[in-house]
Amino acid sequence: MSRVNLTKLRKMKAEHDKIVMLTAYDASFSHVLEQSGIDVILVGDSLGMVIQGQESTLPVSVDDMVYHTRNVIRGSETVFVIADMPFMSYANCEQAINNAARLMADGGAHMVKLEGGEVVVDIIQQLTERGIPVCAHLGLLPQSVHRLGGYRVQGRDTDGAMQLIDDAKRVEAAGADMLVLECVPAELGKRVTEAVDIPVIGIGAGSDCDGQVLVLYDMLGISKGRRPRFSHDFLADTGNISDAVALYVDKVKSSEFPTLEQNY
Ligand code: KIV
Repeated sequence: MSRVNLTKLRKMKAEHDKIVMLTAYDASFSHVLEQSGIDVILVGDSLGMVIQGQESTLPVSVDDMVYHTRNVIRGSETVFVIADMPFMSYANCEQAINNAARLMADGGAHMVKLEGGEVVVDIIQQLTERGIPVCAHLGLLPQSVHRLGGYRVQGRDTDGAMQLIDDAKRVEAAGADMLVLECVPAELGKRVTEAVDIPVIGIGAGSDCDGQVLVLYDMLGISKGRRPRFSHDFLADTGNISDAVALYVDKVKSSEFPTLEQNY
């Protein structure tokens, strides 16, 4: 079987075939996720918290991301792999190009993800013009946790919602090929998904997005601390890791996950 690619992911959006994504950070989990039906693996900078035990994603380095991306690539054959650009690794265009090139050339990533709307539009354009596929990330931006005053739901008021829809259109126009939308009301998740042609992958953004992503260790119930409301412990439902991932795949594909309980 050939690798999932952007053409396939766009077709999945057009055909309302839900895209199922999970984070992973190593070869063994990458293999298990692929065998259990995951379409896309995100090597998220959430590894700072769930692998390194940091309080936020901010201390994660480009070297960390290259190392974990390489491991995920080695464990996989058919999934599409996205690598996060860590905090301040894309503060200007030149830096973004150099660091994205490392994630692609040394890490083997198929796409890079970066957080922000209007402020990163130029950077998205510069990267995509050079052939680097970009996934944008809007809504709750974990790298801006201190400015946001915590991990809070975004886009609750009319201005915030309009700004988010506008940002989604702008990152698409700049060349982004995918969008992760984190922690927004389900109704806004639906509006953003309908406003753009690129696949929108929700995390705490309701079941109307084109796909879903969760942090692997949250959905296995092994993360330290409180599990976010938008996640669910699938390992508790099944008793083993492969079945937990397969159940998540089934529930996303059939739009049974997320449920109203996980929505904002
Ligand atoms: O780093 C990460 O795992 C992420 C997800 C929360 C989408 O960006």
